[in-house]
Amino acid sequence: MKDGPALTAFASRHRITVEEAQELFTSIGPAILDFDEALYLEENPDVRRSIANGEFNSALHFYFLHGREENRSGGPEADNPPEIKFKGPIPPRALRKRVHGHTQLSSFEAVGAAVSKNILDAVRPHISLDASSRVLDFGCGCGRVLVYLEDAVGCQMTGSDIDGEAIAWCRDNLGGFANFVQNGALPPLPLADARFDLVYSVSVFTHLPERMQFQWLRELQRVTRPGGFLLLTTRGIDQVPLTWLQRLRFRMTGFVYVAGGKTPGLPDFYRNAFHSEAYIRRTCSRTFEILDFKPRGIAGEQDWILCRRS
Ligand SMILES: C[S@@+](CC[C@H](N)C(=O)[O-])C[C@H]1O[C@@H](n2cnc3c(N)ncnc32)[C@H](O)[C@@H]1O
Repeated sequence: MKDGPALTAFASRHRITVEEAQELFTSIGPAILDFDEALYLEENPDVRRSIANGEFNSALHFYFLHGREENRSGGPEADNPPEIKFKGPIPPRALRKRVHGHTQLSSFEAVGAAVSKNILDAVRPHISLDASSRVLDFGCGCGRVLVYLEDAVGCQMTGSDIDGEAIAWCRDNLGGFANFVQNGALPPLPLADARFDLVYSVSVFTHLPERMQFQWLRELQRVTRPGGFLLLTTRGIDQVPLTWLQRLRFRMTGFVYVAGGKTPGLPDFYRNAFHSEAYIRRTCSRTFEILDFKPRGIAGEQDWILCRRS
């Protein structure tokens, strides 16, 4: 429990009551004392407007009343246990946010570690990865998943992404984990045929227009060795706010690409795509043998499909 004067000063700085400060300290822990008003307002411009309208006293006051439950970007950090901590230099906040949608390092780490474990658990019945295995992370971003996976199996890892800034940062900082290549919006990858034992792609096909995803599926088949594996993540439309027309299209075709919500720093085509299980099985089976599909098998959110190149 925090001593009186310090907590009183904290409460007064953030324009909340001492009782509210005490409750936050009890539920969040000492990390709450580093709450960054400026960052929270930068990440949540609607909160800035609500404060200007007199609805809240401060960003922390909003956080106390609503932000905690809403799990918004810009909130306080949690301290992860050593096995969850990022395995290399920490990517800059802007690069983390680009792939994670959130500025919190603790949640970036927790998701990266969980997704890496999900992938390894999914492929383990089919392939045992070791130092001789060649693995491609297609759409690796700033290495959120890649560093955990490489750390766990010590494989020969390659990361590729369209994002030149992320790839430059990875080359400068994560060179001990992988080789990194930048690719264009469309194939080819600057990589040899049949090179990889495993190709995985997390939260990339969830952003591509339909035609582009077919082009990339064929390209990922090219770089996978015969008998090698591909794991992709997709997501359905449960709890996604779509229009009735988008829902209808999804029901009829199993796929919908929604051209809202541009991500700063990424190309214009990068929006949101949703796949039904039947659709992704049908689509992947044109180029791969389907082995398994797990709804919400990726950090409890996205689905994964595991395929083998024949
Ligand atoms: C949501 S992020 C996920 C990043 C990473 N897989 C992870 O889980 O942290 C999506 C990534 O896909 C990349 N991307 C989008 N289109 C791409 C393309 N055509 N080729 C390669 N990467 C692409 C983006 O640049 C971004 O890094």
